[in-house]
Amino acid sequence: MSVETAAQAAYLVAALLFILALAGLSRHETARAGNAFGIAGMTVALVATVALAVTRDMSSTGLILLVVATLIGAAVGLYRASRVEMTGMPELIALLHSFVGLAAVLVGWNGYLHVEADLSGSEAALLDGQGMLGIHSAEVVIGVFIGAVTFTGSIVAFLKLSARIRSNPLMLPGKNLINVGVLVAFVLLTAWFVISPRLWLLGVVTGLALLLGWHLVASIGGGDMPVVVSMLNSYSGWAAAAAGFLLENDLLIVVGALVGSSGAYLSYIMCKAMNRSFLSVIAGGFGIEAGPADDRDYGEHREITAEGVADLLTTASSVIITPGYGMAVAQAQHGVAELTRVLRDRGVEVRFGIHPVAGRLPGHMNVLLAEARVPYDIVCEMDEINDDFPGTSVVLVIGANDTVNPAATEDPASPIAGMPVLKVWEADDVIVFKRSMASGYAGVQNPLFFRENCAMLFGDAKERVDDILRAVTTSARV
Ligand code: TAP
Repeated sequence: MSVETAAQAAYLVAALLFILALAGLSRHETARAGNAFGIAGMTVALVATVALAVTRDMSSTGLILLVVATLIGAAVGLYRASRVEMTGMPELIALLHSFVGLAAVLVGWNGYLHVEADLSGSEAALLDGQGMLGIHSAEVVIGVFIGAVTFTGSIVAFLKLSARIRSNPLMLPGKNLINVGVLVAFVLLTAWFVISPRLWLLGVVTGLALLLGWHLVASIGGGDMPVVVSMLNSYSGWAAAAAGFLLENDLLIVVGALVGSSGAYLSYIMCKAMNRSFLSVIAGGFGIEAGPADDRDYGEHREITAEGVADLLTTASSVIITPGYGMAVAQAQHGVAELTRVLRDRGVEVRFGIHPVAGRLPGHMNVLLAEARVPYDIVCEMDEINDDFPGTSVVLVIGANDTVNPAATEDPASPIAGMPVLKVWEADDVIVFKRSMASGYAGVQNPLFFRENCAMLFGDAKERVDDILRAVTTSARV
């Protein structure tokens, strides 16, 4: 069997492994196996690609460069991934998407320099002979466009998620016209480039796409960032598929399409979970206008001590815990798991209510609770538990804010209006763990904090949970 045939067979195996990886990652129980399939698929793909390149026309210098680049990339990747905090995961993913975008731009430019810029060369002659020169030019310009949008879009997402720039949506006058104008210009320039490929045309398309990527993501507000990250994931897949066409690499086309379509589907599911219009988010906040500044007087909030919360918990019959981003920051999950165990041992019914976008990445809270060994069967999704708040004695809101904001259901002018939320305020007593009266990720005030049945327990969530545990166990001994 020739290396060429073996490599194509290996590509098929790798593609199947990637499909198994996606299937595995869709459930808690199989996520580890899914990850292992993904790693195996990528290893097979890399070995087959290097073997193919060597048998085709790669020089020994090229091979050395490839091995050195792979080793450096693998070392940096391993180092970053082993140190990243769970809370820093979305920004790392956004940064990685920017690399895929940049790679697609470089592959596109490389394709132009090898073919269109050297029309008397052998590659251009071969393509011309097959009547494929125009198709190659279209692949170049489309690949560069998608790659450049992904590149700057991902960088802005990274800057917003890591709080290096403000997460508020940028509201340029005529922002929708700017987006539509760039898209129309892209279509016209693509047609022009296919008829008459010129360096300056490719430069203009690259520049316009870089601006569009920056503007699309800058126009999207903080609350919609989870959708943006998964949408950029989708764009990076399409960018990889476009690079696959240029490099004539079938596996890259298949994997790019898998990533592109699964990312688009995940964005759609998230939009449904947050009651956002999918089209509006992917079009850079199309139709979303800035809301009026919120200078309302919400009244006074009430504070409670850890001992006060311990008293409430020991006399409660049922408790629901709704964790959020603050639990991850404080790393309070182990204390929360211990408190759950102590209360259940005393006959209190304890369950968890998980909002689909609580924290900073899909499944964030589930991962933390699983790590702290909270039994799966008491961890409920929002839809499973949302009708159970009336009649619940105490709700502990541990570091959550936007996901428990009643304004989403009650105030049509709120920037998060329409987003489904956990209706914690319907319980008898609600305790909110946070360090201050600051707003959550979406930058919106939360009227829950001022309700009569709500009390604030200020301080770091881990320290406060430990204080409650001490108070509960002391009261048990007395
Ligand atoms: P947020 O609305 O982000 O609120 C977190 C709260 O935790 C803040 O109000 C903060 O208040 C508190 N906090 C921070 N550190 C704390 C600590 N050490 N101890 C105690 N409290 C602490 O959280 P959420 O309800 O989980 O909502 C998630 C938000 O992130 C949504 O807007 C969502 O759209 C967005 N988002 C989600 C994702 C995904 S996919 N899950 C990805 C990106 C963005 P203080 O500062 O006063 O302590």
